[in-house]
Amino acid sequence: MSQQYIIGIIGLGYVGLPLSIAFAEKYSVIGYDINRERIADLKNGIDKTKELESTQFSTKIPIRFTTELDDLRFCNVYIITVPTPINQNKEPDLSYLINASKSVGSILKNGDLVVYESTVYPGCTEEECVPILQATSGLIFNQQFFVGYSPERINPGDRTRPIQSIIKVTSGSTHEIAKVVDNLYKSVITAGTFLAPSIKVAEASKAIENAQRDVNISFMNELALMFDKMDINIDEVLEAAKTKWNFLPFRPGLVGGHCIGVDPHYLAYKAMQVGYTPKVILSGREVNEQMGVWMGEKIIAQLAKQFNGEIKGKKVLILGFAFKENCADTRNTKVIDVYTTLINAGLQVQVFDPLVDADLVKKTFNLDLSESKDGQYDYIFKAVNHSIFN
Ligand SMILES: NC(=O)c1ccc[n+]([C@@H]2O[C@H](COP(=O)([O-])OP(=O)(O)OC[C@H]3O[C@@H](n4cnc5c(N)ncnc54)[C@H](O)[C@@H]3O)[C@@H](O)[C@H]2O)c1
Repeated sequence: MSQQYIIGIIGLGYVGLPLSIAFAEKYSVIGYDINRERIADLKNGIDKTKELESTQFSTKIPIRFTTELDDLRFCNVYIITVPTPINQNKEPDLSYLINASKSVGSILKNGDLVVYESTVYPGCTEEECVPILQATSGLIFNQQFFVGYSPERINPGDRTRPIQSIIKVTSGSTHEIAKVVDNLYKSVITAGTFLAPSIKVAEASKAIENAQRDVNISFMNELALMFDKMDINIDEVLEAAKTKWNFLPFRPGLVGGHCIGVDPHYLAYKAMQVGYTPKVILSGREVNEQMGVWMGEKIIAQLAKQFNGEIKGKKVLILGFAFKENCADTRNTKVIDVYTTLINAGLQVQVFDPLVDADLVKKTFNLDLSESKDGQYDYIFKAVNHSIFN
């Protein structure tokens, strides 16, 4: 492949935008997204995900942002960073990936490389995406076009770990192409790369990173549920336990977002497809899913104790609505479960989170965020540990 890469990034969200900026340091980059509003914002130097400082992202960034697929025709590398959510049955929703593959396939040329970054289950790239690329392009896989997979590991809200500082796992559809993919990423990721032996291994490595975190937090959540019934303070238990060198210092909490609570279902789906029903992964998910309601019920119980059961109309302030600290992302936020539990108990609940997009929250959750946290409340619950609340 030519070293004169022209890179098309497909999907400019939390992953695609920082990636585009990293590649634009060295290569010509065209950023493509089907969301017209997002492209209009980016053209004006606005990033609603708030992932980048204004010094990193402005109208001066030499990236061409577009909603026109035709603008990608001169690219020779396509990197796909579209969402991979789950559906109502908690099964992989590959529709974004399929549509993006169809789009790229329709403009693919002899010698082009397509790299997937979206989180998927092991086997998805070669079993689901490659056949689409082949069918829509009419080109022969591994002769006329090539594929790579490099999972994204960014941590939204974490300013200390920019994309360049996180080791990138890479892989390719042939031995030679794997090296091409690896060198491409190595040229912009200062932390370096890890070349996985196959696309499947790279896909699996990402899926287990997030499943491991989910399971570890679920253990802490289970402890929180248990010790609560035993009237033991979990913080005090963890303080004591973490003095042992090999105790892992995870914390109980709400697990939402587009990754940790979603990716384990991708792994479980594939496992079940091949005849194994994972027990630890799925029970961890089950424990984590109930925490929002449980926290709501705890607040109700404390209010009931304080006001002799007369809780109707009591005022509660929830601080934070994002799925995690210092981040604008509200996808799958579990704060909504706390909120709904309190509302259903007849409480008056205000939610304050200046980091998130209030219009999007209204549209997605039918919830009006408060513009201020000032006021008199019977209970204040810090649901998300944004630094601005400390
Ligand atoms: N957000 C994270 O922290 C994170 C971290 C690591 C990996 N990932 C993975 O990266 C992938 C992308 O996640 P994200 O958080 O950036 O999602 P996102 O929703 O923030 O961004 C995805 C973008 O893709 C666009 N899009 C959807 N379909 C498209 C299509 N057919 N063509 C062009 N654009 C299209 C959307 O309009 C959106 O702007 C997912 O698989 C996710 O699991 C996310």
